[in-house]
Amino acid sequence: MHITNKSIVITGGTSGIGYQMVRQLYNENSLIVISRSSEKLEALKNELPNIAIFQADLSNISELETLVDDIIKKHNSIDILVNNVAVQYTPYLTDDDFDYASISTEINLNFTSICSLCYLFLPALIKDSRSAIININSGLGLAPKTSSAVYCATKAGLNSFSKSLRYQLENTNIKVYQPFLDLVDTGMTEGRGKNKMTSKQAAADILSGVNLDKFDHFIGKVKWLKLLLRATPSIAARILKKN
Ligand SMILES: NC(=O)c1ccc[n+]([C@@H]2O[C@H](COP(=O)([O-])OP(=O)(O)OC[C@H]3O[C@@H](n4cnc5c(N)ncnc54)[C@H](OP(=O)(O)O)[C@@H]3O)[C@@H](O)[C@H]2O)c1
Repeated sequence: MHITNKSIVITGGTSGIGYQMVRQLYNENSLIVISRSSEKLEALKNELPNIAIFQADLSNISELETLVDDIIKKHNSIDILVNNVAVQYTPYLTDDDFDYASISTEINLNFTSICSLCYLFLPALIKDSRSAIININSGLGLAPKTSSAVYCATKAGLNSFSKSLRYQLENTNIKVYQPFLDLVDTGMTEGRGKNKMTSKQAAADILSGVNLDKFDHFIGKVKWLKLLLRATPSIAARILKKN
């Protein structure tokens, strides 16, 4: 799908990979950015004045219906929904100070909000011309590591959800894309990991995969992980476990 002259909703466009996607899409598309911090949204609008901004904490699932209604009223045509927002909490459930409340926040944000946004934006996405849902996934959605148990599970769930949704939308104009990312140098991975991809490169790879209609797109080292999982699943699991 060629991404030009599209009306695009993108979540979490104020930093990291989302911000780079916003910058790379800005000149040729109309962008609607949803994010949590009003200050960061205002700063983004100062930098890129033609974007529309909507402040929301996407982990508050009960507020999503009003948010989407508001967006659709103001921008009746939506061509692409990019579900980019996620958080990753690394503590173990066995830690003495493990934050119990973080479980529901992480699941709401990384999984429930995405299912909900897909459902709520469907009426705006169904039309005569091609439209798309892009769910940003991770290599950790294919095989989990030891830390970030809830994050890994939400990404595995997102993979399953995206596949079912793709089946459900088979006879419609809406295509479902899933880029699976390698480790990227963003706020999410600050202070951990080596040989990280830049967020600019990650965004460029995501967008070029969509342009080439790579519906499941394995980016960077995830290409090798995918092959390893097929050839020697126990070795792949052992490598990921140590991460
Ligand atoms: N970084 C990696 O290594 C990596 C690897 C594989 C996959 N991914 C995936 O790539 C996507 C982007 O990750 P990233 O590394 O770019 O993350 P990031 O740098 O932490 O940025 C996250 C974005 O989401 C927004 N956000 C966070 N909590 C929110 C909430 N409750 N409501 C609304 N917006 C919220 C943030 O806005 P505020 O700044 O206002 O909080 C920010 O704009 C995620 O789906 C992630 O799972 C990342």
